Parts: sequence; C-alpha cells; structure tokens
Amino acid sequence: MKARVLSGIQPTGSPHIGNYLGALKNWAKIQYDYESIYCIVDLHAITQYQAPAELRSRIVELAGMLLAIGIDPKHSTLVVQSSIPEHAELAWMLTCVTPVGWLERMTQYKAKIEALASAASETSIGDGMLQYPVLMAADILLYQAGIVPVGDDQRQHLELARDIAQRFNSLYGQELFVMPETHLPTVGARIMGLDDPKIKMSKSTAGSGHAVSLLDPPATIRKKIMRATTDSNPAVDFATMGSGVKNLLAIHQAFTGWDDAAMKTHFEGMRYGDLKKTVAESVVAAIEPIQQRYAEITADPGYIARVLQEGAERVTPLARDTVEKVKRCMGLYSR
Ligand code: TYM
Repeated sequence: MKARVLSGIQPTGSPHIGNYLGALKNWAKIQYDYESIYCIVDLHAITQYQAPAELRSRIVELAGMLLAIGIDPKHSTLVVQSSIPEHAELAWMLTCVTPVGWLERMTQYKAKIEALASAASETSIGDGMLQYPVLMAADILLYQAGIVPVGDDQRQHLELARDIAQRFNSLYGQELFVMPETHLPTVGARIMGLDDPKIKMSKSTAGSGHAVSLLDPPATIRKKIMRATTDSNPAVDFATMGSGVKNLLAIHQAFTGWDDAAMKTHFEGMRYGDLKKTVAESVVAAIEPIQQRYAEITADPGYIARVLQEGAERVTPLARDTVEKVKRCMGLYSR
C-alpha cells in the first residue's frame, strides 16, 4: 500500500512562484509515488475577511492552476476543504485537546496579529486566526496522512499537528492518529519577496513588485524581476551577496535544477542587470507552458467542477471513518 500524502493551499490571492517552488512543483512530482490528497483550504482563507464573490472565483482559479501545474486527477485527489464537513468537525474535537498556550506561541499567528494591530484597522482579530493551526492539524489527521509536503513557513504548524496527535493519543489511550512527517523540497523551500527579500513571498502582501504570480504575463514577470531589490554591489559575489541576490539565484536554481557548482560558474561576477535578465527568462520559460495548460483547462467550464466533485466523493468515506473513530474514542454520541 502506498503511503498517504496530504497538503493544502489557501485560495487567497493568486498562487505565486513561492507557492510553486516551495510546494506545488513537489506535489506534482510525488503524486505517482504516493496516494495524494491536495486540498484547497477555503475554511483557512476566511480566517481573514474575503469578499465572497472573489473567494468563490479564486477557489475555481486555484483548482485550474493546480491541474495546470500537473496535478493529475487520475493519480491525485483534488478537494475543496469546505465540501467535506468532517474537516471542521474534527477541528472542533482537536480544539478541545489543544492548550491555548500552544496556539499563542505560533510565530505566524504572532506576526499576523502584530501586522493587523499596526495596520490600525477597525476589524478585530477573529478567533479563527488562533485556531488556524488546529484546523490544519485536522486536515492532516482526518486522512491519516503520513507525509505532508510544505514550504519552510509551515514547518511549525506541522510540528503542532504532531503534538496535537500525540496529546490526543495519550489522553484517550489509543494510537488513533498516524504521526505526520514533513517533506520539504531542497531548493525553493522559502522564496522571499522581490521588493523586500527579508520577508517571505506571500499572496496577501500588497505591492505590484512583491510576488510573481503564476498567471502574470511574460512582460509583467520580466518587469517585476528587473525591479527586484538587490544590494550595493555591482555584480554577483557569492562570498558577500545580500539576501535579494541570494533569492534571485535560489529562484533560478529551483526553476532550472542546476547544481551549486553550475550556479557558481555561471553567475559569479555577473552584473546585476544580466543576472536579472537570466533569471527572468528561466521563470518565463517555466511558467509559459503552465499558462498554456491553464487556458486549455479553463476553456471547459464543467471540467473543474467534475474534478472537484469526484475528489469529494473519493475522500468522504476516509473522512467519515476517522471522525466516527474519534467520536467513539471520545465518548461522543454516534447514531
Ligand atoms: P499557503 O496557502 O500559504 O501556501 C501553500 C504552500 O506554499 C508554500 N509557500 C511557500 N514556499 C516557499 N516560499 C514561499 N514564499 C512560500 N509561500 C508559501 C507553503 O509552505 C505551503 O506549503 N496553512 C497552509 C495551508 C494548509 C495546509 C494544510 C498545508 C492548510 N491545511 C494541511 C499542509 C497540510 C497555508 O497557508 O499555505
């Protein structure tokens, strides 16, 4: 029997090259070796307000993009989180065994509430923001996934999922949950913002020069990369380069698969203008075929809905089975 893989992505903003290099590329690659479930996590998206019409269209756009990057519905299951009620059901049960202190320590939570507080907006911070990693643990544990491919930024959440599983197992005296392991790509685990290489590239960070979206036209990709922040050196120096140059090189290496020696030979001493042109061309070359497939996939409006429907039907029995076991284990009423 193949080991089971689960991962998720939020339908907020357009998926970018950080998502692709840190997670999605790997999803497509490993789908033949594992039983893979890939989840569009719309319940996570609403931890921050989303305009309903936009969220609805982002979910379908993201499903189309996942198919375009090579997720093959014959080998993987593509599913929208909110179409399987057991995600939220299990999340509640896990919430009840998770100490609040564990959640308050999450760095992503702390960064988000700090950013919201300093934005001086009127919106209060929803409780969902704190519970976010418990829902993520539920996504993973619901399907008893052994492997969870994510970018570096999700590593702490995954550790927490393991802690929650362990706590549940020890509280109820049963080895009910499988312990999930991370699975990080060696290059591209953390791609930084082009405009500010100190922060990770993110779907929700504003600024037209921040992220390269997988749907950006080639001219936009070139423009964004040509404007990327570098440092005060005139040319690439592997010994002293700053985080902006490092990030551009990481993007190039992740897209081309060149080894470290080839990178050094090619780029050492190259002026930043030429570096950026080279990186832009490697990004455009990798993204253009994805965009072509995306156009083909979205030309048939019923196709994505059929894939998502089949996905939901395939995983429902697995989800039901886990929730029933957890209910029985906790002493909840079962019909
Ligand atoms: P999300 O939607 O922020 O990102 C999806 C995937 O992309 C990776 N990623 C990056 N990798 C490299 N560089 C970056 N700049 C970058 N930005 C994002 C993320 O690590 C992630 O793998 N909480 C998750 C979604 C989720 C999930 C799950 C993941 C919900 N349930 C269960 C795994 C298992 C998130 O917000 O990902």
